[in-house]
Amino acid sequence: MATPIDVVIMAAGKGTRMKSKLPKVLHRLGGRALLAHVMDCAAQLSARQAVVICGHGAMEVEAACGRMAGAAGDLSVKFARQEPQLGTGHAMQQALPLLPDDGVTLVLSGDVPLTQAATLTALLAQCEGQRLALLTLNMADPTGYGRVVRAGPGASAQVRAIVEHKDASEAQRAIHEIYSGIMAVPTRLLRGWLSRLDNQNAQNEYYLTDIVKFAVADGMAVVAHQITDAAQVAGVNSPVQLAELERVYQLRQATALMEQGVRLGDPARLDVRGVLTCGQDVEIDVNCIFEGQVSLGEGVRVGANCVIANAAIAAGAVIHPFTHIDGEKLGVQVGEGALIGPFARLRPGAQLGAEVHIGNFVEVKNSTLAKGAKANHLAYLGDATVGERVNYGAGSITANYDGANKHRTVIEADVHIGSNCVLVAPVTIGQGGTVGGGSTITKDTPAGALSVARGKQLSLPNWKRPAKLPRG
Ligand code: UD1
Ligand code: CA
Repeated sequence: MATPIDVVIMAAGKGTRMKSKLPKVLHRLGGRALLAHVMDCAAQLSARQAVVICGHGAMEVEAACGRMAGAAGDLSVKFARQEPQLGTGHAMQQALPLLPDDGVTLVLSGDVPLTQAATLTALLAQCEGQRLALLTLNMADPTGYGRVVRAGPGASAQVRAIVEHKDASEAQRAIHEIYSGIMAVPTRLLRGWLSRLDNQNAQNEYYLTDIVKFAVADGMAVVAHQITDAAQVAGVNSPVQLAELERVYQLRQATALMEQGVRLGDPARLDVRGVLTCGQDVEIDVNCIFEGQVSLGEGVRVGANCVIANAAIAAGAVIHPFTHIDGEKLGVQVGEGALIGPFARLRPGAQLGAEVHIGNFVEVKNSTLAKGAKANHLAYLGDATVGERVNYGAGSITANYDGANKHRTVIEADVHIGSNCVLVAPVTIGQGGTVGGGSTITKDTPAGALSVARGKQLSLPNWKRPAKLPRG
């Protein structure tokens, strides 16, 4: 049996440099809280539990954890409070009562979102359930970080201690190998070492990193697992760093999509804030944003500057530029071979069948359009059921809201709605019928009929226009 993993996530710090009311770990990267990325990673390791150490904004952080979806949401989460914050060692002391002795404690930071599970798996392999394993990295500019002090030169020399920048001698400051803030440590050993911490150092903090020298003093093995990808251990301390990591994250997503065969207009101009699934031969032009769960079927093309959230776009559909689709909770479905946009807006509950055409400045909400229905210009369809091959004219709307309640409009198959019509719901337009342009329809219309409801045209002969009045 492998040693159980208990993940501890440090999230008590204030994040002063964010200059924000929101606790730092709740700032978003790729549309999700920084902390959610860390929890996802913990879930991928099949951790037994995650203990989140909260301090600043604890209530908000704890509530946010409760709302997390996906893998992070399935993880068993406990909370420890650290008030006041007296250092990373002190933070760990608050988590200890929740950590059983038979496990390995994996220490992560809530503000380090891009660590990959494979990196942590390798670190845990070095720990082997019995050794202190540190994740380290060589940095050109190690200023501010804890330095990994070894018995001699080279990465094979024994690790002796981690010395914080503020406590380091000139010689130690010249060391480029830094401690990333991530370690794996057998919990029963951690417990003993944490009880020996003091705050006799430059910052008067209880340093978690001091356990390295205790391990060495006890004759226990300390191993350093060195990586080269700095983004994986980069923390977010300021809006600038958040934006930098966002770009790293987005480029990773774009690369993964391209490796699956998706063709991107420009990988630097794509933002995926959620999960985007693509079939074969999908093309996405520049400046598109995908949010929540979006799927694009085989051969789908998305034009420039589209924002698409919570939607399923079937094979062969084309989303022309500047289209905004947001399914929110209800979702949006676009059928095979449909043509949407440019400048179209699809709202929650829009369910479009195959080969539907939705043109510029057309808004569709909570409506079903059957195969081949078309609304090509300047129109509104809300709470409507639209049959096959219906043609819905420019400027027409469903008046679905009476000021208190919403009502349905049913437009049966093969109906032709002229331009500038108002269909006052609840109302049904019978199959194959035609509604004359400019009509305000308040009663059901029979199948096959031409229905017109507007002022009769009238012409007064020899009409004299008013003349200008004389001056003065
Ligand atoms: C720490 C390490 C340092 C390492 C660096 C990597 C210590 C003493 N030093 O530095 O060796 O190079 O991380 O980034 O551990 N936190 C709490 N409670 C506290 C203090 C911190 O929860 O009392 C949390 C912070 O919110 C943050 C994490 O711990 O998520 C690390 O704290 P931070 O102050 O960023 O790291 P340093 O102590 O500077
Ligand atoms: Ca600190």
